[in-house]
Amino acid sequence: MEPITVLVHGALGKMGEEVTAAICRDPELEVVGGVDLKATQEHLVLPDGSKKVPLSSDLDSLLEACHPNVLVDFTIAEASISAARTALKRGVNVVLGTSGLSEDNLKEIAQLSEANKVGAIVAPNFALGPVVLLHLAKIAAKFFDYAEVIELHHHEKADAPSGTALATAREMVKSRGKPFVYPVTKKENLSGTRGGQVDGVAIHSVRLLGLMASQEVIFGAPGQTLSLRHDTISRECYMPGIILAIKEVVKRQGLVYGLDTMLNLRGSNEGI
Ligand SMILES: NC(=O)c1ccc[n+]([C@@H]2O[C@H](COP(=O)([O-])OP(=O)(O)OC[C@H]3O[C@@H](n4cnc5c(N)ncnc54)[C@H](O)[C@@H]3O)[C@@H](O)[C@H]2O)c1
Repeated sequence: MEPITVLVHGALGKMGEEVTAAICRDPELEVVGGVDLKATQEHLVLPDGSKKVPLSSDLDSLLEACHPNVLVDFTIAEASISAARTALKRGVNVVLGTSGLSEDNLKEIAQLSEANKVGAIVAPNFALGPVVLLHLAKIAAKFFDYAEVIELHHHEKADAPSGTALATAREMVKSRGKPFVYPVTKKENLSGTRGGQVDGVAIHSVRLLGLMASQEVIFGAPGQTLSLRHDTISRECYMPGIILAIKEVVKRQGLVYGLDTMLNLRGSNEGI
């Protein structure tokens, strides 16, 4: 079988380099070119040393020269939507991981991918672990009345709690159809010690130099607890999801949003 050919947009960035290396390791995929604003040379030596592929800052000319099956994008939001427009209009499938695409961007990507009969997969988080954790947490939420969330991130994270922790608590409440039971502390000796609260779920944020990103959900019931935990150790965690998306996108038409949708996990625990 012919390999799926891929052009990496943002090839010289942290994610772009990691994605290029991951594609090189997969015999079903082939990197045929790289695009990056920072490109100063005309060729990119692939990380496995197997060959040189064209490198340019001009996406349109490289699409014309390489005819890839898929464009993978990890850049910045403005560059991502512009690249998606260019690629989709040329009939090239797109996998977009860049953060910050707006609702309007997503509508446009959906419309363009359908009009040009190609696939588009957009996921703000390509790591499999958090998606599976959320799925399991939604199931457990139906069986336990008490739950707390602890999220742990590096010291430079700007916000607290994390968007993922908030979304997890909200989805857990939605899944059980009623708030969790929140044990009220009669006397809080230090204000804020019990964390924030979403419908009975206390959320605690740890910010520490040395951490990357972790989340733990602890469920409680008489005489037992159940803990679900995910730890991000390196950018490698995103690679299986991205590789899967590249292989899936060529089989689809229109937009798929989120890794959970691609894995058929969204809404799939109804009735459990
Ligand atoms: N979806 C996910 O799972 C996931 C995971 C990690 C990071 N991200 C997101 O991916 C994006 C990239 O992250 P990163 O850490 O690799 O950043 P980075 O800054 O290391 O890399 C971005 C690259 O894009 C290039 N670029 C910027 N504008 C461009 C343009 N107009 N045309 C061509 N190239 C352009 C830059 O030169 C740079 O090399 C961010 O938005 C980040 O939040 C998503």
